[in-house]
Amino acid sequence: MLELKDITKSFGDTHVLNGISLELDNGKIMSILGPSGGGKTTLLNIILGITEPTSGQLIYNGEDLTHVPMEKRGFNIVFQDYALFPNLTAYENITYGLRNNPGISSPEEIKEMISLLGLEEHLNKHIDELSGGQKQRVALARTLVMKPKLLLLDEPLSALDGVIKESIKAKIKQIVEQYDLTTIMVTHDPEEACTMSDKVLIINHGKVAQYDSPENIIEHPASDFVRKFILHQLEVKRNNIYTLFNEGDEAETAANANAELAAAGQED
Ligand SMILES: Nc1ncnc2c1ncn2[C@@H]1O[C@H](COP(=O)(O)OP(=O)(O)O)[C@@H](O)[C@H]1O
Ligand SMILES: [Mg+2]
Repeated sequence: MLELKDITKSFGDTHVLNGISLELDNGKIMSILGPSGGGKTTLLNIILGITEPTSGQLIYNGEDLTHVPMEKRGFNIVFQDYALFPNLTAYENITYGLRNNPGISSPEEIKEMISLLGLEEHLNKHIDELSGGQKQRVALARTLVMKPKLLLLDEPLSALDGVIKESIKAKIKQIVEQYDLTTIMVTHDPEEACTMSDKVLIINHGKVAQYDSPENIIEHPASDFVRKFILHQLEVKRNNIYTLFNEGDEAETAANANAELAAAGQED
């Protein structure tokens, strides 16, 4: 189990995180959701170990890791911009971390991961020859062959569009379930958070606005902020889809509902 106890983080006078506490069971997927600039990446970096919290504790399976360096935590991240090595091939990128730790994944396991992510035909390509979706899959494979105890993903789908997004979303879910990986994913998309996760952490102004299952958040939003930030966006999406697939009065009702939601969202 991962436990965060009253984590705070300030950069100079800027208080980015103000007392984040939560527990996440092993093998579960958690999404961190919140407005841009709200401290999502900072929290992920604190869990990874590249940023020290100003105060608070991080405990993993009973062990206090607050001051344990990143490389000793055994966690791994897929960064928002992928951070692949442009001068190496896809295969060299995937196996880069194994150069100093060759025993972590066997050749068969590497092959399996490559095949699971559909990368066989791209292995000898350089990074600039790959599409966004292919780069994302290389970044995922590179992290997964390291067999992280905790998989961290910073907006893994934000640079992708439509069909590719859905296919990578499904792949992440499949791999996470198959390997029983504890996963923490940052996103600013409520639909992504609610459809992919067991738990959703909503951060606003550096505080926990709500931490619960998607179902409970949707049924019992803890505040007006949660209602507006999550439910309105989900409802607008649902209404738009409804309008697309339906004609006539019902579609008009859905479109009107969106106009009302937009107006309500502008109240404060
Ligand atoms: N290394 C840093 N030094 C100073 N301020 C930072 C640093 N990293 C993040 N911040 C500030 O912390 C706030 C939260 O940033 P971030 O965690 O990246 O938000 P999010 O990922 O939710 O968009 C922002 O105001 C950002 O400018
Ligand atoms: Mg971020």
